[in-house]
Amino acid sequence: MARAVTDVPMREGGAGVFVLPTPSELARAVAGRLWGVARERTGAGPVHIALSGGETPRKAYQTLAAEPYRGRFPWGSVHFWQTDERFVPASDPRSNRRMIGEALLSRAPVPRGNFHGIDTSLPGPGEAARAYASELRGAFPGAPGGVPRFDVAVLGIGADGHTASLFPGSPALAEELALALPVEGGDPPLPRVTVTLPVLNAVLRVVFVLQGEGKAKVMRDVVAAFRDPSLRSPGLPATLVAPRRGTVVFLADAAAASLLPASSRSPG
Ligand code: 6PG
Repeated sequence: MARAVTDVPMREGGAGVFVLPTPSELARAVAGRLWGVARERTGAGPVHIALSGGETPRKAYQTLAAEPYRGRFPWGSVHFWQTDERFVPASDPRSNRRMIGEALLSRAPVPRGNFHGIDTSLPGPGEAARAYASELRGAFPGAPGGVPRFDVAVLGIGADGHTASLFPGSPALAEELALALPVEGGDPPLPRVTVTLPVLNAVLRVVFVLQGEGKAKVMRDVVAAFRDPSLRSPGLPATLVAPRRGTVVFLADAAAASLLPASSRSPG
């Protein structure tokens, strides 16, 4: 099990940074944190968890779906959502839905109806974004400002600083009303659907996960912006994730954390 760590509330500035020696320990730390939040929040109603795609979280989702977490996780009370999706069929190897399905949904007793995916069988990303936004609104009735409040969001960060499918310089970064938008981005670029910053900035606990030396530079730059908010910039979208009342934690393996100044790491 991951050791207990204390998140740093955004209003006090900064974010917790925890470095795990290996990718396997990183995966256990992420799974442990999801389990911890789910356990803590169950009883107060359904727990909502937003999952990013890409490759980094695959091992964490597999770990959550395996013992010792599998038998202890309150599957019946937890709803899983996507942070973003590439607009490809669900069978496509690039599909985030497919990755989440392989790593988690096919292995764990997630009740039918407790996974809320972005529907890429709709005619286009605009329709998929609207349908997803409407499903979000329906699941969080009475949410302040109509913005859903995920209990936790697992976010990756691209080497260019994108998070979810919010890419550097994208007009989507300025969105203040829509919960989900059609966008284009990635390498090679693809149409995608992403939740917007108002949604990410209403999350109670943001968990950024970074693995491998290819993420070392972006991790150094993003963590620096959490220490010094004047460095936040649309050129580095992950730095714009600053939940008003939530906490942010970075979980990284040693390779991703290799360029961090020692003073950036949290004790514990
Ligand atoms: C996606 C994601 C995206 C991802 C980063 C990091 O659809 O690509 O959800 O935001 O988290 O690109 O991806 P990797 O984990 O594959 O490096």
